[in-house]
Amino acid sequence: MKVGVIMGGVSSEREVSLATGKEMMTHLDRNKYEIIPIDIKKKEDLLIRAAGIDVALLALHGSFGEDGTVQGTLETMGIPYTGCSLLSSALCMDKDLSKKILRYEGLHTPDWVLLREVDEIHGARVAALGYPLVVKPNAGGSSIGVTLVRDENSLRQAVQTALSFGDEVLVEAYIDGEEITCGMLNGKHLPILTIKPNGEFFDYTSKYEPGQSDERIAAFAPELAERIREAAEKSWRAMKCTVYARVDMMLKDGIPYILEVNTLPGMTRTSLLPQSALAAGISFPELLDAIIEGSLS
Ligand code: DAL
Ligand code: MG
Repeated sequence: MKVGVIMGGVSSEREVSLATGKEMMTHLDRNKYEIIPIDIKKKEDLLIRAAGIDVALLALHGSFGEDGTVQGTLETMGIPYTGCSLLSSALCMDKDLSKKILRYEGLHTPDWVLLREVDEIHGARVAALGYPLVVKPNAGGSSIGVTLVRDENSLRQAVQTALSFGDEVLVEAYIDGEEITCGMLNGKHLPILTIKPNGEFFDYTSKYEPGQSDERIAAFAPELAERIREAAEKSWRAMKCTVYARVDMMLKDGIPYILEVNTLPGMTRTSLLPQSALAAGISFPELLDAIIEGSLS
């Protein structure tokens, strides 16, 4: 089978995507697959270069890759691709819409306000959130453009920074709890991971520099673990995910607050989903087989 590894792309997560693609190519079973690396540098590249492959293994992150656009392009071209559908990808990429859906489904997610202009920080809804706040691009990833804001003096700058990555900014109440994540693979949970970043939060450096974060299989009491798994599964269903995804949460007072669902979670050397799969006895090559098989079935 000819597997096109679609990576790079044009989003702010291009470097992460190249690392995901490289790691995937290292672990794809070469007896089984003919590997065709496809580095997307401009949006037009996909139309020209994806021809001749049996499946597009998506190693892209962020806009034009994780947001449904590439999925739609590949569907139009009749090329099967890995991971979630166009609709699910688009929904999960928009944090504001995701949170509305999650709330509707009765899941916990931190309070938030969506801003389009920096002066909107003076609104009553922002004031009602209190401090600390997390300010992030509404459709970003890898914590790029994200600031933890402890008081109103730094709010304007944080919103300006996030606005430089997109038109919409999410201002979200900070949950002072434990960062946790639960991967899902073909509808089944992977083990829950707890994340203890060296810095204030799980930022770009702690995500991708080895040793900058302590990630381990959670040792929660069975009842709490079950509550977290249920929240992950409910989120997966609410967001219409298929094949694989990773649900990121903050845990406080036994309540899992959903931050977001990642439809193309990182697969780099330091990424969470492969670690979690390994803990479940699924090696990286087996994980890639499961993703490809799940996407083609
Ligand atoms: N957005 C990055 C790649 C992740 O969620 O792992
Ligand atoms: Mg993300």
